[in-house]
Amino acid sequence: MARVFQVPAGSSRSGARRAAGTPAAPAPAPAPRPGEQKAGIVAGYLAPHPPHLVYAENPPQNEPRSTGGWEVLRWGYEELRRRLRAHRPDVLVVHAPHWITMVGHHVNCVPNPRGISVEPIFPHLFRYHYDFRTDVDLAEAIVEEGERAGLVTSALREDGVRVDYATIGALHLANPDWDLPVVSLSANNNPYYYSDASLAEMETLGVATRRAIERTGRRAVLLGSNSLSHLHWDTEPELPEDMSAERPFNHAQYAGDMELLQTIREGPTSRLKDAVPKHIEATASETKAGSLTWLLAAMGWPDVAGDVLAYGTVIATGNAVVEWVP
Ligand SMILES: [Fe+2]
Repeated sequence: MARVFQVPAGSSRSGARRAAGTPAAPAPAPAPRPGEQKAGIVAGYLAPHPPHLVYAENPPQNEPRSTGGWEVLRWGYEELRRRLRAHRPDVLVVHAPHWITMVGHHVNCVPNPRGISVEPIFPHLFRYHYDFRTDVDLAEAIVEEGERAGLVTSALREDGVRVDYATIGALHLANPDWDLPVVSLSANNNPYYYSDASLAEMETLGVATRRAIERTGRRAVLLGSNSLSHLHWDTEPELPEDMSAERPFNHAQYAGDMELLQTIREGPTSRLKDAVPKHIEATASETKAGSLTWLLAAMGWPDVAGDVLAYGTVIATGNAVVEWVP
């Protein structure tokens, strides 16, 4: 079974640390002074990362040029950006499924990641030049809180490791100005390899993320970068942004997404603990990678409904932009 995914797992090093007892928790951040904004997670967004959405926007960082496309999803992201600004975050924390780690959870602690991110299946759509700042204090605090919770965690410190397109895509779509620091978390890929690996570990990673945010006194916005239904075409039209070719893969995939989104719109989020695994089973949903479960667990499964800002398909996969405010 997925010993590298579940809570009891660990390297001999982390196992020895646990055997030696739980390290003392560092002091929490001081309470805000009157007039100061409260720290913590101020909002969470389901923020999918199809490279097509970045391609369609023609930002200067992306080499390929387009004539547009997928407008409804991009309008949803425009609304996300307006709301994100209103929350006045200090930092964006993103969990994305294409920084794949097979052992544990990694956190990017490189102060200034820069390079070119390329989508391996669609290099003609996404060759993106990135250059952003990491909130290293918060990134290290997430590593520490993950270890304290018994997770296998690791700090990525090698400068020059290429940042995956899902992380870059979600961050660009949420904040194309790149004027906020970032913390980027990897996705442990064991649920794709072991039939009995569950999303339970994402619950632990979510709680560890929240503790680190509160301890460091940050106002954080979380981005869970997952698409919904995930069956897709294996050919694309002559013009990639030809919207006459864009539609759901089949009725069952669309209906599965609508059922999940209805549950999201009704709330509370605790209903999603059952609804997400059911949706994964029905639609091969990308939420299998755990980003949505991490997001909601970090927010403490708030007793609110989600606000669906947009839904649309990209090469037949279902994608929704959703906001939760705790
Ligand atoms: Fe993806």
